[in-house]
Amino acid sequence: MNTGHEPSEDSYRIKITKNGPYVVSGGLPLAEQIICQDAEGHCHGWRQGKVFEVPETYTLCRCGKSKNKPFCDGSHYRSGFDGTETASRASFSTQSVEVVGPDLTLSEVPILCAEARFCQRAGDTWHLVKKSDDQECRKIAIEEASECPSGRIVLKDKDGNVIEPELTPSIGLIEDVPAGFSGPIWVRGGIPIESSDGFDYERRNRVTLCRCGHSSNMPFCDGSHLEFKFRSSE
Ligand code: FES
Repeated sequence: MNTGHEPSEDSYRIKITKNGPYVVSGGLPLAEQIICQDAEGHCHGWRQGKVFEVPETYTLCRCGKSKNKPFCDGSHYRSGFDGTETASRASFSTQSVEVVGPDLTLSEVPILCAEARFCQRAGDTWHLVKKSDDQECRKIAIEEASECPSGRIVLKDKDGNVIEPELTPSIGLIEDVPAGFSGPIWVRGGIPIESSDGFDYERRNRVTLCRCGHSSNMPFCDGSHLEFKFRSSE
């Protein structure tokens, strides 16, 4: 159903249910987001795929077993899904480690990696940051960090200003076409996420939530969808 309404910022929310789906409220747009590649086969850029018509509130499968993906069909209950949230509740800045380059500083929390591989182009983001007094290296490092869906990597300029992409509040369903599998749920634009026991995770511009049911860092993606060959079409 297409309600035709604009999303209302005050009601944006993702509520994680105990051993069950994500309840998305606020009329947030939902669409596939597809990983693109450059001529050398490195992940670079995104394109939008299928756009889903959604009501004000909808439930997205978290266990990976729904026959009506991306939506929950109750399979989590029948399969006995264990969705225990094990991720740290500390802030990104508390958990992160830094690589300091001449013109950029990279902060990262490796366990948040969604294996989207945008950081691997041109020698990888870490090496580019170390050479960030070179304008081309600086530019590519920023592109790579900005294309990362998970927020594992955050760059700052030498004045300490955080460099973040502008993301409209929306929900992406990542399709990793280069790898041949489906990826996590990409939560974009600072949408609040509430745990099953009522804790508000740090509100961030971008995070990725597990939808294959296998992350060891729930609710966040840890890249397990590749190991478990998750496909949203199955
Ligand atoms: S969470 Fe309900 S079917 Fe997957």
